[in-house]
Amino acid sequence: MITVMIGGQWGDEGKGGIADFLSNYHKVFVRFNGGPNAGNSVMLGNGEKFVFKLLPAGGLKPGAILVLTEGMCIDVDALRKEIDKLREINPNFTVLVSEKAIQINLDHKIIDEGNKSRLGSVGVGVGPANVDRIKRRADTMKMYRSNEWFSVGDTGEWLNDHLKEDILFIGAHGTELDIHQGGFPYVTTSNCISSSIGHQAGVHPSLVDRTVLCVKAYSTRVGPGEFNDLVGPVEEKIRLKGHEFGSVSGRPRRIGWIDLKQLKRSVRINRPTMIALTMVDVLAGFEKVGVWTTEGKLEYMEGWATEDIKEFVHLDQKKKSPFTDYISYIERAVGCKIEIVSYGPEKRKKAWIWADSLSCVRHINHEGEEGEWR
Ligand code: IMP
Repeated sequence: MITVMIGGQWGDEGKGGIADFLSNYHKVFVRFNGGPNAGNSVMLGNGEKFVFKLLPAGGLKPGAILVLTEGMCIDVDALRKEIDKLREINPNFTVLVSEKAIQINLDHKIIDEGNKSRLGSVGVGVGPANVDRIKRRADTMKMYRSNEWFSVGDTGEWLNDHLKEDILFIGAHGTELDIHQGGFPYVTTSNCISSSIGHQAGVHPSLVDRTVLCVKAYSTRVGPGEFNDLVGPVEEKIRLKGHEFGSVSGRPRRIGWIDLKQLKRSVRINRPTMIALTMVDVLAGFEKVGVWTTEGKLEYMEGWATEDIKEFVHLDQKKKSPFTDYISYIERAVGCKIEIVSYGPEKRKKAWIWADSLSCVRHINHEGEEGEWR
């Protein structure tokens, strides 16, 4: 079974937590775009977190096979360090790297410093490395062959030979940062949408069984570009409650209400089979919650309480609440079901909700129990 998980907004949708949750159902985890400019945080049981930058955020699973395809830009030193760090937590995983993935060198990092103010770049060299890819003068990973950290080879062939395994492709960044489909020029230098596994991993998109679009219950953006910013005390409250500071850069993220016009477009581009809605706990306790409609108007809905979320994810038959109204409103507006809800950073705070209609939740799984995966 092949699953692709994609960021539905501007990155930072909480993909790390959802990937960790979905790791229950997969064995092979693939990163196919970007490089160490991504940061997927996964909570460890002891309250600490592990930030995956180059490795796919499924790496905590014992026996995991972690694949880095040719779409990636790799800082080899950073990769070795990340592997060493992960080995302290999970001694049992393997890493396969595409011989055609390109290397980030010191020059790339120096040049990228200049992109920080102009484009809001993270500054770790990914953009300039991709420039050298297009100029066809970048160094590839072929020279490393296989070593004590990773094996180097044709990952496209390997993946196509192992299609019977449960494979999770973990997209970095988000749809609005895609070099072609995002808001140019304030975009990253790779493709971040579901179909881009075709050219960035050599696996045809028609082979995909499920596409999970990861969407935050509000919007955030790091760096310049089009965005409906929230300004004032509500903005600050959401930023602090949601820890909305860049996981690689530490910069405060811009905050806005969910934008359904943007999300509808994202659904059109990615054709997800389901949405995973994250950070719903961050919005709990607000008297009203804003929504940018598909017509581009700002509307307010009644806010929900933590209790509403708890009832929703713990009960089979759910009575209507402001929270279920919010979920149904999004589903109807963008034409895609929300089938996973994340209501806290820990793995046990991810729930399956398979809802025909939000007044009747059909199947629920929560607190880390294995669910059925259709
Ligand atoms: P670059 O990819 O480092 O050149 O950054 C280009 C733009 O994409 C900047 O606005 C970054 O802040 C943004 N960006 C890149 N990666 C991420 C990410 O993983 N999450 C959020 N924003 C990102």
